[in-house]
Amino acid sequence: MSNAASTPFVRNAWYVAATPGEIDDKPLGRTICGERIVFYRGDDGRVAALEDFCPHRGAPLSLGRVVEGKLVCGYHGLEMGCDGKTIAMPGQRVRGFPAIRSFPVIEKHGFVWVWTGDPAQASEDELPHLHWADDPEWAYGGGLYHVKADYRLMIDNLMDLTHETYVHATSIGQPEIDETPCKTTVEGDSAVTSRFMNDIPAPPFWRMAMRAHGLPDDQKVDRWQICRYTPPSHVMIEVGVALAGHGGYEAPKDKKVYSIVVDFITPETETSMWYFWGMARNFRAQDKALTAQIREGQGKIFAEDLEMLERQQANLTRWPERRLLMLNIDAGGVQARKVIDKLVATEQAAQPAAA
Ligand code: FES
Ligand SMILES: [Fe+2]
Repeated sequence: MSNAASTPFVRNAWYVAATPGEIDDKPLGRTICGERIVFYRGDDGRVAALEDFCPHRGAPLSLGRVVEGKLVCGYHGLEMGCDGKTIAMPGQRVRGFPAIRSFPVIEKHGFVWVWTGDPAQASEDELPHLHWADDPEWAYGGGLYHVKADYRLMIDNLMDLTHETYVHATSIGQPEIDETPCKTTVEGDSAVTSRFMNDIPAPPFWRMAMRAHGLPDDQKVDRWQICRYTPPSHVMIEVGVALAGHGGYEAPKDKKVYSIVVDFITPETETSMWYFWGMARNFRAQDKALTAQIREGQGKIFAEDLEMLERQQANLTRWPERRLLMLNIDAGGVQARKVIDKLVATEQAAQPAAA
């Protein structure tokens, strides 16, 4: 049983659990917010999410098989239904078997979402609206990294792109980033950190994108990065460049190239996460080769963050009492943590005392 009272996770929220292709004809075991969950497809193809614990002897159900939409335990053959109730077991009467926990789960916008909090509060209306997901003018490519670090370190990383100058020097980094101050604002439960850099050379990633969009890649550009955190741990970053002097972010479509960096950060444990990263773009949306090229480039860039974050986590674990500084560049992450702390405190206050 998880110890919800002491964990830093917002529970009444949808987290990305998997991409649809990860849940095929075999069950998928994945820990989310400290809960061990098994995902599989029932006979109607819909995804089910259950506690990964066989009521017979506690074997992980994710080691079993899916037979005609029923999850069959790999140990002694217990058949589990999508609602967490045992359907059958060879040679046994199953009526008295205790039900196991089932989790609300939705497949939408190209992701499988799970809710680890109070099922009564799980509503599809709470899913983030991804305007690009079902729009043929937009294309999306992305991937998944498992990262051994507190999920909030990734939020910090994405809400402060100053690190691009250093961590991503060969692709999207450039000195103008840390020479230009950023601005953080708070709107309700979301935090926005933005940076606008005018009349600068375009870094390699954006030169590639400009060529792909039919723009000259050797001219100065106005560049922007607008990082938006929304609870529990989603960060969408509007990024782009426009030929210098045409209005930057507001420039007409034929003078700019832009996209949305999509980051769904799902806690696994207190010191590890599932990081679903990707990019949605609205130029040459039908060009699958370009989608693959961008995905590969972004995958390499984001892999550069992983070592930094994992080593940072190792340091923080080793020296938990060390105090960290909060500079102006850290404001976006600081605001996001305030929102998380507030939501966690509210949820914990609403929990029955026995939990
Ligand atoms: S542990 Fe699952 S059937 Fe025995
Ligand atoms: Fe990065």
